[in-house]
Amino acid sequence: MVGGMASSDRRRHRDIPRPVAPVAQATNRRPAGEAANARYPRGQRTAILAALIRPPLRRLTSRGPTMADTRDPGPAAAAIVTAADPEPKAALAPEPETPRAVSLADVEAARARIAPHVHRTPLLGSSTLGRMTGTVLGLKAENLQRTGSFKARGALNAVLQLSPEQRARGIVTLSAGNHGQGLAYAAALMGVRCVVFMPENATPTKVEAIKGYGAVARFAPSMETLFAEMEAYRATHGLHFVHPFADPAIVAGQGTVGLEILEDCPDVEAAVVCVGGGGLLAGMALAIKARRPGVRVIGVEPEGAAAVSRSLAAGRPVTLERIETVADGLAAPFAAALTQEVIERHVDEVVLVTDDEIVEAMGLILERTKLLVEPAGAAAVAGLLSGKARVPRGARVVATLSGGNVDRDKLKRLL
Ligand SMILES: Cc1ncc(COP(=O)(O)O)c(C=O)c1O
Repeated sequence: MVGGMASSDRRRHRDIPRPVAPVAQATNRRPAGEAANARYPRGQRTAILAALIRPPLRRLTSRGPTMADTRDPGPAAAAIVTAADPEPKAALAPEPETPRAVSLADVEAARARIAPHVHRTPLLGSSTLGRMTGTVLGLKAENLQRTGSFKARGALNAVLQLSPEQRARGIVTLSAGNHGQGLAYAAALMGVRCVVFMPENATPTKVEAIKGYGAVARFAPSMETLFAEMEAYRATHGLHFVHPFADPAIVAGQGTVGLEILEDCPDVEAAVVCVGGGGLLAGMALAIKARRPGVRVIGVEPEGAAAVSRSLAAGRPVTLERIETVADGLAAPFAAALTQEVIERHVDEVVLVTDDEIVEAMGLILERTKLLVEPAGAAAVAGLLSGKARVPRGARVVATLSGGNVDRDKLKRLL
């Protein structure tokens, strides 16, 4: 599927990253009921929701084109103060679902919608890492994105489409930190009240950034208990839940990364993408395969937080009982039907890397390209360096550097 590169195309060895080949240019509906499944993973559902949340998984049949410090919330946010915990409102039943699949048209619309509020991040080449991985390597530098990760894309796309009623109610989410930052940033822009549930051991700079945008930060003892805590709060306070990955608007927003890669590297042969819950992988795969079906798309997940790989093996989304990885950004405690369906359809393979491989990649990226990435942001490169993400020798490959939000203490400990 992936062809080799002519040697004349290979870049000369140099450590400093630079833009990869210049610009050229970059569609599905979802069966009713699946979004509920995605929102309320097994083992974390309340009895009152039970009837709603396990509708039978129905497959799509169409096979057509399928699928910095950026923490300035912008001028509109200056006047917004959302730091107070919202008053509890009357307990709410789950919001009615508006389930639907995501199409290339959604990703294109997301791109136009979010463009004024996000950076067009560079695609940087690294000859040294290319040589080490046996590829012509491009790095999509989403660590330089607003809020420090690609998460601002999906969050903005979701918040910009909220109904007036949802905006008035306010929004809530769960996050290891980056989705929380993206959502808090988007909420501040739109003047929407925002509450973010995080694990108690969340990266301190991520927590501070979320508060800095005016959102309320709340904590649960662990990633594994986060959903239940958030769901109880959401129901009492009447907030609108914005899923960190299994929301069509989130997937479409993350897919814009794929469109930019196709524009900046039209002859890309493989995209290697880090995986937490799978929103980035699903969005990118959807966009890339719709435009260029021959491009190989590979997901890379940490061994200690393998929600997507295990769900693919099980044939349904599973919830992890235990998560142990240095890559907090990839520590999704569960997978979801919406993203799983897209991944099953469009992704060539998902491979697992160890924490050691992630940390090694993080160090090399810093040393060789001068780019600081958090562990999650190094996972795709780790997949290539370890040889687990298999691409033909000399292939033109793009790997995501998905985020750069890591604090000094963690850096010191890891590197
Ligand atoms: C830096 C970073 N990379 C990758 C991911 C994984 O994204 P997804 O959950 O969409 O797979 C996350 C998720 O929080 C992240 O913060």
